[in-house]
Amino acid sequence: MKSEKRKVIIHFSLFTFHFSLFMNSAIIVAAGSGTRFGTKTPKQFLEILGKPLVIHTLERFESCPAIDEIIIVLSLEETAGFRQTAEKYNLKKLAKIVAGGDTRAASVLNGLNAIDSQKCEIVAVHDGARPLVSIREISATVEKARETGAACLVASIPDTIKEVADGKIVGTIDRSNLRRALTPQCFRLEILKRAFAENEISEIVTDECFLVEKLGYEIATVEGGAQNIKITNREDFVFAENLLKQLEDSEFRI
Ligand code: CTP
Ligand code: MG
Repeated sequence: MKSEKRKVIIHFSLFTFHFSLFMNSAIIVAAGSGTRFGTKTPKQFLEILGKPLVIHTLERFESCPAIDEIIIVLSLEETAGFRQTAEKYNLKKLAKIVAGGDTRAASVLNGLNAIDSQKCEIVAVHDGARPLVSIREISATVEKARETGAACLVASIPDTIKEVADGKIVGTIDRSNLRRALTPQCFRLEILKRAFAENEISEIVTDECFLVEKLGYEIATVEGGAQNIKITNREDFVFAENLLKQLEDSEFRI
């Protein structure tokens, strides 16, 4: 937590002294059941290098100077023991443990409702199932949101994209303007709150930008790396496991 990263506003009046400190808060959503992954234990609690996958994700935010506090959203049954888990892994920035909802968007909203709006300036929403985000990517996206109000980490598409109908290629799509939406997605708190208040929250809302786009708000992009995958299937887990092992064993950094 670097104090120069914080915006401090001091109002002086004749007799009173108001001191407000704005923070950047991260909401890590990890309340899903991992249907596509298909294991009994949800994917975010499977271990890599002796710790649950979600702990690797939390450690990224713990080590990022742009983040002041972390709100974790978990399934109700995971909430009770998680404070102890956080202590075990020395997660000092963990401020709140919140129960999730039926959809990812509902889980994000529960996290959002737990934030103290008097103190928070930027909120960074991140998937618990993305342990390979870099500290630089988190900082750059938070910083861009501070400048512009809304920022999304994105990645280019390496493959040629085809349009297909009835099992046949009917066209080639120009991918130079296409990007994959990653997380974190960062916003001034009031923008994200308004986006949730003014839109219907359903299964089709798979990211926050979708809601903020609907407000007509411009969202800046930050180009991220290909390594920041979401663990969805078994092969993603193998990729993450290998990369995290390599990171621990070598000077290689992401
Ligand atoms: N998530 C959540 N609450 C939900 C659904 C998802 O907090 N009701 C979280 C997941 O835990 C994950 C992130 O949102 O970290 C991205 O979701 P996804 O990869 O789709 O995970 P799951 O929903 O668990 O997987 P699946 O869709 O295969 O069931
Ligand atoms: Mg899902």
